[in-house]
Amino acid sequence: MASDKDIDPNRRDFLGKATAAVGAVGVGGACWPFISSMNPSKDVKAKATSLVDLGSIPKGKTHTVEWQGKPVFVVHRTDEMIADMDDSSTKLDPQDDKDRVQKPEWLVVLGVCTHLGCVPNRTDKGWNCPCHGSVYDNSGRVVRGPAPTNLIVPHYEFIDEKKIIIGKA
Ligand code: FES
Repeated sequence: MASDKDIDPNRRDFLGKATAAVGAVGVGGACWPFISSMNPSKDVKAKATSLVDLGSIPKGKTHTVEWQGKPVFVVHRTDEMIADMDDSSTKLDPQDDKDRVQKPEWLVVLGVCTHLGCVPNRTDKGWNCPCHGSVYDNSGRVVRGPAPTNLIVPHYEFIDEKKIIIGKA
């Protein structure tokens, strides 16, 4: 009868590692259906994006669209609004206007105050938050707190001259 002393230690290591590897593959295979079921469905992926027809937004007007359950402000900025952008007046969260837009005449920002999440009201100069008085300019940059940061620019793409898609497909 073979004792532990008779077993080659290298062979024992190999058997241990092989058993562990087979076990890991088995656990991975068993988990795969559960992990796969957590991927978003086609319905959910479709709601992850919002298509916006820019042709229906006159110059100087703002349309609010819903994206992932949140409001998004799409502003068709006038030449005056664009010329009015003063990059030095945004000291709370400094960012140049040109870094917040893909085309100067279109501003796209989340309509969610970065203080505590209220929906700011539109004004000629930008937005005022009704909750605690934060003020944003026509680039969505905070010019008066308590909001600590600018309105968020979501991911969006121009799919042609008159349409954007917000979010990633
Ligand atoms: S939530 Fe907008 S200022 Fe507080």
